[in-house]
Amino acid sequence: MVSDVENPYAPGAGTEPYRLPGRAEAQVWWRRCLTDIEGLGHTTMRGRAFTGVRGVGKTALLRYFEREAGTRGFGVASVQAGGADSVRAYLTDVISGLQRPEPSFTDKHGQIVELGVRVGPVEVGAARDLPDEPPGPPLEIAFFNLISATASAFAARRRGLVVLVDEAQDCDLPSLVSLCRVQHQLRRPAFQLVLAGLPELEDAIDEAITHSDRLFEYRELGNLDRDATREALLEPAAVHGVGWTDDAVDFVIELSEGYPSFVQEYGFAIWEALGSRREIDLDLARAGAEQARLNVARQYRSVWRSVTPAGRDYLTALAAVGGEARTAAVADALGRRPSELTMTLKMLKDRGAVRVPQRGSVAFSRPGMDAWVRDEQG
Ligand SMILES: Nc1ncnc2c1ncn2[C@@H]1O[C@H](COP(=O)(O)OP(=O)(O)OP(=O)(O)O)[C@@H](O)[C@H]1O
Ligand SMILES: [Mg+2]
Repeated sequence: MVSDVENPYAPGAGTEPYRLPGRAEAQVWWRRCLTDIEGLGHTTMRGRAFTGVRGVGKTALLRYFEREAGTRGFGVASVQAGGADSVRAYLTDVISGLQRPEPSFTDKHGQIVELGVRVGPVEVGAARDLPDEPPGPPLEIAFFNLISATASAFAARRRGLVVLVDEAQDCDLPSLVSLCRVQHQLRRPAFQLVLAGLPELEDAIDEAITHSDRLFEYRELGNLDRDATREALLEPAAVHGVGWTDDAVDFVIELSEGYPSFVQEYGFAIWEALGSRREIDLDLARAGAEQARLNVARQYRSVWRSVTPAGRDYLTALAAVGGEARTAAVADALGRRPSELTMTLKMLKDRGAVRVPQRGSVAFSRPGMDAWVRDEQG
C-alpha cells in the first residue's frame, strides 16, 4: 500500500540520487570540475560560493556534490562551519584521514572512499579526539602543504580532493583566509573548493581576501521556477505510482512560490494525508497544506526571532504594504527616510529574512510570511 512506503518528500528521502529540480546549471558545473580532474589531472574552474536564504537548498546541493564526487572516487572533506573548533582544524583532521596510508584498503579496492565530518551545533558527534597541535611549520603553511600533498596523491590516480564548507558565513576568519589562500595558490590543482551560506557570506569572503572574484564565482540560489517546482512535486510521487491532478499541482506551486523548503513541507503533509489513494487532487492538496501550516509557521517564527527589534518593525511595515514593495514605500510607512533604514535592511538581507526581487524593492523571502506577520504580530 502506498501509505506504507517512506514519505518520499521527507528530506533526504526518495530516489537516490536526488535530481534536484532547478539546479541543473550547478550540477553540470560540478560534473565538469570532476571530469576536468579525471581527464586533465587538474581543473581551471574557479571555486564557487553559493549563497541563499534559509531553506533554499544549499545543503541539498552540497550533498549532491558530495555524493557525485564520492561515487567517482574523489577525496571529499565536508564541513559545517560554526562549531566549537576551527574549520581548518577539522579539515586538517579529515584530510589527514583521507591520506592515511591504508594499504590493504587501497590495494584491494584501488580507490579512496569518501570521508566527511560535519561540524557544528547539530553534528559535533563526528569529531574525533584531535591530537595536540603537532610541532612543525605554522598552521597555515601546514594546512596548505597537507591539501597540496593530498590533492597530488589523488591526482596520481586521476582523481582529486574536494572541500565543501556549509554554513560558511559562520566560518572562523583564519580558516576562511587559509582556504582562500589555498584556492589562490595551488597551481593546476586536482582540488576544488565550494562554499555555501547565507547572503552575508559574500561580505565574509570579501573581508577574508581581496579580489575574491578571481577565486570564486558567486551564485545565488533562489526559488524554483514553475517547471522545476512541478518536477519537485510530481517526481517523488510518480516513483510510487501516484499522480497529481493539474489543479492540485498548480495550487501547491502558487502556495509555495517554489520556495524549496515549503515545496517539501507541503509535499510531505499531502503524502501523509494520501491514505490508499493513487491520485493527489485539489481537495487532498488543500487538506495536506492545512496540515503543513504548523511547520510553515514555525519557520516564520524562527525568522522573526532571529532579527532585531528594528528588523521586526521593518517586517511589520513590509507586511502592511503587501509583502513586496519598493524600499521607499516601506520607509514611508515607517515615517523614515530610506537612508536611515539601510543598516536594518542589510541585516534582514544578511539573515535571509527578506530578498531583493529587483533593485530598489524588497520582499519576504518566505512566501506567506506577510500574512503571518499581519495576523500574528499586528
Ligand atoms: N532543488 C530542490 N528541489 C526540491 N526540493 C529541494 C531542492 N533543494 C532542496 N530541497 C528541499 O528543501 C529543503 C531545504 O533544503 P536545504 O536544507 O538544502 O536548504 P538550505 O539552504 O541548506 O537551508 P538552511 O540555510 O536552513 O541550512 C529540504 O527539505 C530539501 O530536501
Ligand atoms: Mg543548510
